[in-house]
Amino acid sequence: MPSSIVILTGAGISAESGISTFRDPDGIWATVDYREVATPEGFAANPAKVHAFYNWRRRNVLTVEPNAAHRALARLERECPATFLLVTQNVDSLHERAGSQKLIHMHGQHDQALCTACGMRSAWNGEMSLASTCPSCAAAGHMRPDVVWFGEMPYQMDRIQRALAGCDLFVSIGTSGNVYPAAGFVRQARQAGARTVELNLEPSEGARHFDDADHGPATQVVPRFVDRLLAAGG
Ligand code: OAD
Repeated sequence: MPSSIVILTGAGISAESGISTFRDPDGIWATVDYREVATPEGFAANPAKVHAFYNWRRRNVLTVEPNAAHRALARLERECPATFLLVTQNVDSLHERAGSQKLIHMHGQHDQALCTACGMRSAWNGEMSLASTCPSCAAAGHMRPDVVWFGEMPYQMDRIQRALAGCDLFVSIGTSGNVYPAAGFVRQARQAGARTVELNLEPSEGARHFDDADHGPATQVVPRFVDRLLAAGG
């Protein structure tokens, strides 16, 4: 029975809600060059293109709903007596809409803006453009999506590292294991002595580092895993 659980999620958990993954054959990076829309250099070169990309993604998220996998993780957090932390690489809000609370968005959130003039973050549900003004300092032309781009440091890494060092169960869900530091979490959890489990459509890049795996759609494998864990007493 685990006493401390860390869950890592990626784009695969939201796929069945209707949000594209990145690296599957029909994923976003198959048609969009990540260097143009997901790097500080891309934003400096063509901010209008970057705003258009995230405006499209923000609009898309408003049309979709959490699925059975998101809901199962919210149930696990509610019903399991263990210390719990859900770390997501996803910038959508489907985990919190399903009821998750102990949640870190390590790659930021679509529905937040970051002002590069004053550093304040603010809720942002509409379109963003070069003309957008900061609700805090009123500066215009300094708003960017509050998402972590390649080459930038993911959020709350200290808290994540502490949780990994103390966990005895680590579960990775719907992530291809291509992007660090998240791709290295499984090895850190193993070094801490945790049991490691992969729940993914197919074996990920780091599949050999997991003790157990269940491969299939997240809406099937995640509720099944949570049911078994809770039936075993947490
Ligand atoms: P990827 O697109 O790299 O990987 C998605 C994974 O989900 C793949 O291993 C798929 O096999 C799996 N998958 C697809 N459909 C699934 C389903 N229905 N059920 C379960 N698994 C499914 O997405 P991430 O690993 O999340 O970062 O990508 C990590 C980071 O790279 C993202 O946060 C983003 C991206 O570039 C930035 O933009 C900085």
